[in-house]
Amino acid sequence: MSSAPALQLAGRVTIGGTAIFGPLSLEVPAGRWTCLLGPSGVGKSTLLRLFASLGDKVDFEGTFGASDGVSLAGRVALMAQSDLLMPWLDVTANVTLGARLRGTQQPRERALDILARVGLADHGTKRPDALSGGQRQRVALARTLMEDRPVILLDEPFSALDAQTRARMQDLSAELLAGRTVLHVTHDAAEAARLGETVLLMTREGITPVESPPASVPRPYDAAETLAFQGQLLRQLMETV
Ligand SMILES: Nc1ncnc2c1ncn2[C@@H]1O[C@H](COP(=O)(O)OP(=O)(O)OP(=O)(O)O)[C@@H](O)[C@H]1O
Ligand SMILES: [Mg+2]
Repeated sequence: MSSAPALQLAGRVTIGGTAIFGPLSLEVPAGRWTCLLGPSGVGKSTLLRLFASLGDKVDFEGTFGASDGVSLAGRVALMAQSDLLMPWLDVTANVTLGARLRGTQQPRERALDILARVGLADHGTKRPDALSGGQRQRVALARTLMEDRPVILLDEPFSALDAQTRARMQDLSAELLAGRTVLHVTHDAAEAARLGETVLLMTREGITPVESPPASVPRPYDAAETLAFQGQLLRQLMETV
């Protein structure tokens, strides 16, 4: 993996002439895990799509990119808010889709290993429509974890999971994505309190950093410091418009 750059964005977005967000500025530190929280509709997914070069309907006025000045093309993996699984491919084929699209060798062993680690070892030959919502979300997570990219964009990646699976998937992702630049959109204050080395709140006014606890991530979910930070984040979210 090439070294993980910081991400920067400064500007405003309109879609079809309607103002979506901005002007605002965003700084995502290199090689760290950043959580982005904010009310529904404020533009979090739109931001991720811009960094993933999927903002074709989005009119962006300003500058954005990687701190090293090198194009982000080919350096980003996005786990979108909807799972985007191919219904005609089985789970293993969905997880190795990136390699197949690039025409490179399919890393089948690694795929089986990651599928086992997301708890889907017995589901590799099933089609997505034979899975539960939480299982489908873990297939999409596995596909993202397979992509050996320095920049990882996660859009509510654990939202469909039960609490204990969510905690396990948070731990796994923190382990496998350590050292990468991760921008993780979540509505869950508890999740941001566990995972956020940097935590950013997005409102219609802009993006504000919140000071996070010094403990390394993933922070223990039941530590007093984590719980206090979770409470503080929820309080701040309650105050946003
Ligand atoms: N293709 C589109 N055409 C028109 N408007 C759009 C389009 N995509 C997004 N929007 C609008 O842009 C705004 C931001 O959407 P976005 O999906 O980025 O929000 P979000 O912060 O991710 O919300 P959520 O937390 O609900 O996922 C919304 O008001 C949405 O209606
Ligand atoms: Mg969204």
